[in-house]
Amino acid sequence: MHILVTGSNGLIGSEAVEYFDRQGHSIVGVDNNMRREFFGPPGDTIWNLERLKRSTTSFRHYSLDIRDRTGVMALFEQNSFDFVIHCAAQPSHDKAKEIPLTDFEVNALGTLNMLEATRRHCPDGVFILMSTNKVYGDAPNEKPLRELPTRYDYAEGADFEGIDETCRIDRTLHSIFGASKVAADVMAQEYGRYFGMKVGVFRGGCLTGPAHSAVELHGFLSYLVKVAVSGQTYNIYGYKGKQVRDNIHSHDVIRAMEAFATNPRSGEVYNIGGGRANSVSILEAIDLVEQMTGRQINYVYHDQNRKGDHICYISDLRKFRSHYPNWLITRSLDCILEEIINAQMLQLASCG
Ligand SMILES: NC(=O)c1ccc[n+]([C@@H]2O[C@H](COP(=O)([O-])OP(=O)(O)OC[C@H]3O[C@@H](n4cnc5c(N)ncnc54)[C@H](O)[C@@H]3O)[C@@H](O)[C@H]2O)c1
Repeated sequence: MHILVTGSNGLIGSEAVEYFDRQGHSIVGVDNNMRREFFGPPGDTIWNLERLKRSTTSFRHYSLDIRDRTGVMALFEQNSFDFVIHCAAQPSHDKAKEIPLTDFEVNALGTLNMLEATRRHCPDGVFILMSTNKVYGDAPNEKPLRELPTRYDYAEGADFEGIDETCRIDRTLHSIFGASKVAADVMAQEYGRYFGMKVGVFRGGCLTGPAHSAVELHGFLSYLVKVAVSGQTYNIYGYKGKQVRDNIHSHDVIRAMEAFATNPRSGEVYNIGGGRANSVSILEAIDLVEQMTGRQINYVYHDQNRKGDHICYISDLRKFRSHYPNWLITRSLDCILEEIINAQMLQLASCG
C-alpha cells in the first residue's frame, strides 16, 4: 500500500510509520513540527523524525502544514494513497484555550483539508481520523461514581466496561480542544456516511508509548515518567489525584488501524483505549512509577481540577472488538511503563 501518515513525528504517527514500513509498504509522512510551537522546546519532535529516517526503508517526509490546502492538494495530486492515517493535531485540552483560532484551524480545518483531498484524489482509500474521548466533553462525569482509597470507579455494574460510543457529544463542557475535535470527528463521519467513503473515527483514551515528546500539557504517563527520572515536580489538578485514565500503547492503536483498514466500514466511530485492565488513577500511577524507578516523585496538589476534565474514563472496547475480534491489547500497563522508563533512562544517560 501507499500510505500517508500526518503527524508522522508524533507519538501515533511515528508508530504508524515504523509499523507499516516494516511490512514493506511505502509511507509518506507529513509533519511541520508544530508540537514545538505549541509546547516549546520539550515538545520538539525532530529527534523522532531523525530516528524514523534511520530506522525505515521506504519513508519520505514532508514538512507540510495541514492547514495549507494548496500544499495538501498538491501532495495528493502527486501521490495516490491507499490509506490515510490522520494524526496531526493540536492535541492538548488545556493549551487550546490560549490559541482557539489556531487550535480550530489545525484540528477542524486541517482535518477537512485531508478529507476533501482524499475524496478528490483517492476516494476508494481508507481514511482514519484519530479523534479523542474529549468529544464526549464532561458527559462521562454524569455516571454515578464511588470513591475508593486510591481511585474513583463507576458505581454501577452496567458501567463496568466503561464509556461506549452512545455517550452523547453535545450539551456538555468539552474544552476548546474538545469542541474543535468534535468538528473534525463529525465531519469525518459525514465523509463516511454522506460520501460513502471508508472512514473510521478512533476516539482515543490515553495513548502512550516511548515515542512521545512528553510535556506537562500532553502525554500523561510519559510526562509522569519524565518527571520521575529527571527529579522535577509533578502537578496534580483536583479530584484528590483519584481521576482514572485508561492507557493504550501506540503499537496497539496501530494494530487497531490495521484491522480497520483490512475490513473498513463507512463513517464508523470507535472508542480506543487501554480498557479497564490498563486503567490507573494518578495516585496509582505515581506509586507504580516510584516502585519501578526506585525514585520518589515530588508532587504538588492543586484543589482546582482542570476545566471539563474526566473523573473516571475507561474506554469500552466492546464495539471495536465485536467488529474486529482478532484485535486485542498486547501491552499491559506494567509493560508500557517499563518501556517508557527504559527509553527515558537511556535518553537521560545519553544527555550525560
Ligand atoms: N496522546 C493521547 O493521549 C491522545 C488521546 C486521544 C486522542 N489523541 C489524538 O491522537 C492524535 C495523535 O496524537 P499524538 O499523541 O500522537 O500527538 P503528537 O503531538 O505526539 O503528534 C501530533 C503531530 O502532529 C504535528 N502537527 C501538529 N500540527 C500540525 C500541522 N498543522 N501540520 C502538520 N503537522 C502538525 C505535530 O508536530 C506532532 O508531531 C491527535 O489527533 C490527538 O488529538 C491523542
